[in-house]
Amino acid sequence: MFEKERFIEECRAALNEAHPQAAIRELLTKAVGEPAQIVRALGEPKRAGVETLYRADDLTILNLCWGPGMVIHPHDHRMWAVIGIYGGREVNTFFRRGEHGLTRHGAKELSTRDTIPLGAAIIHAVTNPLDRTTGAIHVYGGDFFATPRSEWDPSTLEEHPYDVAHTLRLFEESNAKLGANARVTG
Ligand SMILES: [Fe+2]
Repeated sequence: MFEKERFIEECRAALNEAHPQAAIRELLTKAVGEPAQIVRALGEPKRAGVETLYRADDLTILNLCWGPGMVIHPHDHRMWAVIGIYGGREVNTFFRRGEHGLTRHGAKELSTRDTIPLGAAIIHAVTNPLDRTTGAIHVYGGDFFATPRSEWDPSTLEEHPYDVAHTLRLFEESNAKLGANARVTG
């Protein structure tokens, strides 16, 4: 059964293992294997948002709720990560640095109960292809908010410093759209 505090403790303990990312993927696979338990502990993902479940220098755990159709531009992390989906779907598009900016390098669609490890050099864009909110737990091997990283303009593929405030605004815009739709349909 998923318990937030126990999950954090287990992730912290996993940092001492020989392969922390693999150990944490195992924990996350177990956790998202019972998605209803995560919903019970964290709530139903209804609104887009980033909830920080845990933050330290060597570990960040986020509860990410992607609004319907939400798109996050290509960015890197500069630390390993593990993604696990507990409700909905997340499409990850991967990129590589090329001679002339980024080149697309495959995509992976993750559904409920799926996990994926991401290397520290990975550049990815994330899309929620559904017309409902997707809930995911993202675990990072460092302080996600304090580490400078890059994002790329989706049309020019030009590299810029990552702008956390801009990303957070995307979540608010997604919620504003949801509200507008709710007013139209409801
Ligand atoms: Fe990411």
